[in-house]
Amino acid sequence: MPMAETETATIAQAPRGPAAACLLVIFGGSGDLAQRKLLPALYNLAEEGLLPDRFAIVGAGSSDLGDDGYRDLIARSLPEHVTGEYDEDRWHWFADRLHYVRLRFEDGEDYARLRERLAEVAAEWGTGERYLFYLATPPRFFRTIIEFLGAAGLNRQDGGWRRVIVEKPFGQDLDSARELNRTVGEILDEEQIYRIDHYLGKETVQNLLVLRFANGIFEPIWNRNFIDHVQITVAETVGVESRGRYYDAAGALRDMVPNHLFQLLSLIAMEPPNSFAPEAVRDEKAKILQGIQPIAQEQVLHQTVRGQYGGGSLDPVGEVPGYRQEPGVSPHSATETYMALKLMVENWRWAGVPFYVRTGKRLPRKASEITIQFKRAPYVLFRDTPVHHLPPNQLLIRIAPEEEISLRFGAKVPGPGLRMGSVEMDFNYADYFGGAPATGYETLLYDAMNGDATLFQRADSVELGWSVITPVLDVWGALAPRSFPNYAAGTWGPWEADELLARDGRAWRKCE
Ligand code: BG6
Repeated sequence: MPMAETETATIAQAPRGPAAACLLVIFGGSGDLAQRKLLPALYNLAEEGLLPDRFAIVGAGSSDLGDDGYRDLIARSLPEHVTGEYDEDRWHWFADRLHYVRLRFEDGEDYARLRERLAEVAAEWGTGERYLFYLATPPRFFRTIIEFLGAAGLNRQDGGWRRVIVEKPFGQDLDSARELNRTVGEILDEEQIYRIDHYLGKETVQNLLVLRFANGIFEPIWNRNFIDHVQITVAETVGVESRGRYYDAAGALRDMVPNHLFQLLSLIAMEPPNSFAPEAVRDEKAKILQGIQPIAQEQVLHQTVRGQYGGGSLDPVGEVPGYRQEPGVSPHSATETYMALKLMVENWRWAGVPFYVRTGKRLPRKASEITIQFKRAPYVLFRDTPVHHLPPNQLLIRIAPEEEISLRFGAKVPGPGLRMGSVEMDFNYADYFGGAPATGYETLLYDAMNGDATLFQRADSVELGWSVITPVLDVWGALAPRSFPNYAAGTWGPWEADELLARDGRAWRKCE
């Protein structure tokens, strides 16, 4: 049953009102990301009354659409992707505010026209000179777009503000990320840049901060004295879909680890910040990435596992082709679609506690989850009974497909004799608070409009993420994998991933 209103109200912050008046410019406005995620998220915000009246959206892209063509395009795609109610009146409110500008990203002259068009739209909707630019384009255009924005004077904050949201991936490796940060830093101040990681828009991910720092019971045990190890799993059933070309140049490590998985790791491992001010939180997260023990080149093959799926069978899809048969992928590709890593965080709290991290495509189930495994009871009181086989206490934080937190502990099975079972105490977000249908981008867009960068990545964190994985990229790049494909679609990845934990006397938690 959903929790009573009064109970939530006592812990809620001030109620959220509409975001600040502004003009949102989406580069790649008719593209996949805009249609599937960004515009539905904005519509959801409108539905919740969180968009201001003085607001408009300008899609910018190379298609020849015009305002009406753009509205028609979005009218066709939006209902399918909106996660909440779809309401015709709300759609008209939203559609009125949709505009489109044809813009070739690499043509400087088009940016002068863009500037003029933005001034007109801003005047029409009374947004003032508050422009939020969203780079929802392929990453190769990020730098060019920012340079041309600068050349057109669209970076200057004379009469309002200018902010730029940059999608992932931010760079391809440490050098390119540094280079991008440097170029961007010549044109924009750090406080104008919002490097997005959509994992931080997920409710359960944000709830990690609340779980850890708003509850007195966890902090005393959240350390090496009580925690045996941590597992972070992001398993996907999907393959590479229509993104073969991008993915084959990226691979699982680049695509998921320095961003999504390291966000999860730093939220789990960070020290309590002095406050929830953006810099305080981001400082603590950055310290964790700084504290990850660098993987020596000769250790890479020992501490990491890579895999690539071959053809196989997957419920409920049936037979699926191997990775090398996917469109856009080289038939001899050495790109990994699965990876597992063992990482150590070198600080007082975590010394000796391994963090095992894995992610892969075409695995049997979608599951994004974090397992905190606690140490066993110090004295095995029940040595002569099967009880010592009981699994140790685990706190499981599920991010997808269900948003849940569950605690596993041992309990006596009722009846004569001492028989024990392992039980779970569950908290399910949707059951308790009711569904909060969202694409995950709502909070991030709302925060960027309000100038709150807490949930965005800072330049140093992005570079730190890349530095951690650089030795792995180097070694994997130099030593071609010998046995790809090495797992069948629909299985839990290569056997070496089990080995990685078995060597330490541990095992992956089964994702049910
Ligand atoms: C993206 C990756 O950033 O995240 C994709 O590029 C991946 O490869 C996706 O599928 C996963 O996101 P989610 O929200 O479905 O877990």
